[in-house]
Amino acid sequence: MTDNDQWWKKTTIYQIYPRSFKDSTGNGIGDLRGIISKLDYIKDLSVETIWFSPFYSSPQGDFGYDISDYQNIAPEYGTMEDFDDLVKNIHDRKMKIVLDMVLNHTSDQHNWFIESRSSRDNPKRDWYVWRDGKKPNGKAPPNNWKSFVTGSGWHYDSKTDQWYWASFLPFQPDLNYRNPEVKKFMMDMIRFWLRKGVDGFRLDILGAVYEDPKFRDNPLSWKLIPSEDSMDMLFRSSKYTVNYPDNFEFSKDLRKVIDEFQNPQRFLIGEVSGSLEELRTFCGKESPDGLNLVYLFQSMGTKLSANKFRKLIQKFEKYFPDPFIPTWVFSNHDIIRHISRFKEQNAIKKAKLNTALQLTVRGVPTIYYGEEIGMRQNFLPFDKSLDAVSYNFKKYPKLIRNLLLRITDYAINRDGCRTPMQWNKNETAGFSPKLTDTWLPINRNYKSINVENSIDNKDSLFYCYQRFLKLRKKTPALNSGKIDLMDPKTIPNEILGYTRSAIIDGNEQKIYVYLNFGSKIASFHNPIPNSHLLASTTISSQPLNGQNITLQPFEGIILEK
Ligand code: NOJ
Repeated sequence: MTDNDQWWKKTTIYQIYPRSFKDSTGNGIGDLRGIISKLDYIKDLSVETIWFSPFYSSPQGDFGYDISDYQNIAPEYGTMEDFDDLVKNIHDRKMKIVLDMVLNHTSDQHNWFIESRSSRDNPKRDWYVWRDGKKPNGKAPPNNWKSFVTGSGWHYDSKTDQWYWASFLPFQPDLNYRNPEVKKFMMDMIRFWLRKGVDGFRLDILGAVYEDPKFRDNPLSWKLIPSEDSMDMLFRSSKYTVNYPDNFEFSKDLRKVIDEFQNPQRFLIGEVSGSLEELRTFCGKESPDGLNLVYLFQSMGTKLSANKFRKLIQKFEKYFPDPFIPTWVFSNHDIIRHISRFKEQNAIKKAKLNTALQLTVRGVPTIYYGEEIGMRQNFLPFDKSLDAVSYNFKKYPKLIRNLLLRITDYAINRDGCRTPMQWNKNETAGFSPKLTDTWLPINRNYKSINVENSIDNKDSLFYCYQRFLKLRKKTPALNSGKIDLMDPKTIPNEILGYTRSAIIDGNEQKIYVYLNFGSKIASFHNPIPNSHLLASTTISSQPLNGQNITLQPFEGIILEK
């Protein structure tokens, strides 16, 4: 084993939504050259791995999650040369690059689908999932399967009088992986990017790749809306459409492909939903022979409370014990920006506390672009929305829409978490090089919330991220040690306490983390008398006084003996 082995277990991930990070041309759309010009900023923040939402060729119906050519770059983002340059620039900075891979479906504008729908005997017909409608006249969908977002996931095609299956939006037809040609093409396509130096893939809705080959109706369920634990909704189970067992086997096949590439190792992180048991199965049942990591979205909606997070850590540790490893994520391009869940009054303090938690618990953290400067959700008018998911809901009365927005955490209109990165207080927030209409409106708060201001303020959220990231990087106990929760009876109710420890050269390194989830000062006996402060969420902090530890409201600290 070399030092390089399993580096991905210790890594930290930063997600870039390419359309929104930095525009180098002035057309109001982010691009690869823009990203390259900002790599030093990300390096300085101290994250290691950058995950890019898709920038392959695409009609942009779902802003890149509808791919029309898997081995090309969309012209609005740049060229293959720009991509190679991006990889080089990232690696030169000793950072890693992860691409988003949408295996489940293509765009309906992909040549394969254009061919596939052209006639029943086209060679590409079987590359997608086609079925006859229900008898007697075939004008009803083949079965009761629902898509993730709309009603039935079956779409009628009059030309060939059959229905195609789409797990997500109608213009994203599912590929048929039971056809060996499809599987072979996609595995080779993955190798193509790995040979270009890509360090890993985030796998889009992986649990939807294989459905029941017998096309049985999904049974009834008691659930109206989907949750982190299950995609059951509208009183239908997703038994035969999501996490069908063949998907677990597929994860193993994918792992074999990426393991063909070593020095450095590559990794896979799955976007999957389901119970923790199912999520763990994607990584391997007995041994870790499936996906290296899976997103655990349970963290996103967890209320900021010591008790709630203690329970969540216990659960994650139960299902992802070493050699498996959990992940920690709070925001992404599909859901409300996490800081906007908090009341404005203490939002930054709470975001800092959340950062301290995310970067000190056992697991791989992902930070969404702008999260580090406290970018808020941009609550844009529904009527002008660009997100294709929102289109289905435009017909609903405002009251219902608002209700749905709230209960889905804004997942039915995702524009608000995707607005341009706020770099400075200039026009376009420094996102575009000249005054232009950016693809989505800049948040009006950009004059106060931006990178420049964050860097000028020594006590900003940005520096809190940077402090914890730097410490994590150089501290084995934090980046790869075990975690032990402190007995809640030994600390006040609002405090979450845990230790992280690792053996280095025969000696134990032990780190103590105390997080105050309460809005009041908390003081309690310090069980480690000769400890010193390694980091706090606030720079003016003096938590160690005599026999006691005293934490400010929402303060989080790390101590070492
Ligand atoms: C999940 C992605 O995160 C989302 O943005 C996308 O719309 C769907 N998958 C469909 O690819």
